[in-house]
Amino acid sequence: MAIDLRSDTVTRPTDEMRRAMAAAQVGDDVYGEDMTINELEEKGAALMGKEAGLFVTSGTMGNLLSVLTVCQRGDEIIMEEQMHMFWYEVAGIAALAGVQIRTLPGIRGVVSVVALQAAIRSEDIHYPQTRMFCMENTHNRAGGTVMTREQMQDLSSAAKQAGLWVHTDGARIFNAAVFLGAEPRELAACTDSLTFCLSKGLAAPVGSLLVGPRDFILRARKYRKMLGGGMRQAGVLAAPGLIALDSMRLRLAEDHRNARKLAEGLARLGAEVDMDTVQTNIIRFQVPMAAGDFLRRLAARGVLANATGPDSIRFVTHYEVSQEDVDQVLAACGEILA
Ligand SMILES: Cc1ncc(COP(=O)(O)O)c(C=O)c1O
Repeated sequence: MAIDLRSDTVTRPTDEMRRAMAAAQVGDDVYGEDMTINELEEKGAALMGKEAGLFVTSGTMGNLLSVLTVCQRGDEIIMEEQMHMFWYEVAGIAALAGVQIRTLPGIRGVVSVVALQAAIRSEDIHYPQTRMFCMENTHNRAGGTVMTREQMQDLSSAAKQAGLWVHTDGARIFNAAVFLGAEPRELAACTDSLTFCLSKGLAAPVGSLLVGPRDFILRARKYRKMLGGGMRQAGVLAAPGLIALDSMRLRLAEDHRNARKLAEGLARLGAEVDMDTVQTNIIRFQVPMAAGDFLRRLAARGVLANATGPDSIRFVTHYEVSQEDVDQVLAACGEILA
């Protein structure tokens, strides 16, 4: 079988997860009667130190719900220009929430407090209302880099001083917490609402959680229904999420070690890797040939990956990539780059 480094989203549910799915107690979640979903929402919220949680189909839905819940049509929200919410969420924020995104340049995904403060609109008949500030941790396009708690807190304080809501796309927040040696709730304390994914490095088949204050989650639940995301006996999907939160998040350091080993090996083989950005489970690097050629030759050797530019490649490590796989990938890269 191929070694799949395209994303941590390719992870398949573990045997324990499949057993839990079969045994899950379920009910109609639109009536609030699915006990497994209720347990997952409570557990996710408690883990993040928030009042309430909402099980959603995807990270994209969680992020969009935060905007729909907080903003009015014609509002503006501010975020760093490489964020997933700006690049990869099909402009749902514009199309469905009617909200304008204002982007700011950042360094490894982090904008400066000064730039944020300067971008917040004053009252003027010509201006939209700035309503929200968003962060991403870890930062996908920056290469899985981590925002420290201090960076999050400083930006959050500046945003909140101006009356903004702070939302964090924490699709990989557990990777950030593991890197920092912090509790997830310490990072979540820097944000009003937070989305985190169960279906990436944590290997659950479906789903994310949106967490925040109780009244915010109540309103988000209604918007989820509006989007067609009101699920019924979906406890079968929430059951693996519980295992993701209980045990899978605790093994992410292994993925980080494998990513580091891969990156060091790639650098030795002559690929261009900025080692400072290799903090979690994502490695971005340049190769001295067209990315498409590199990927084809890699696939012929049983390794799948994605291109991120004309000569740039991304590898993502995860639960299904072992240390032996890392050696095999490096051997394949060695042949191609020789
Ligand atoms: C940083 C980040 N946010 C949000 C998402 C969206 O998650 P989903 O694919 O579940 O919609 C992703 C997916 O890769 C992501 O990397």
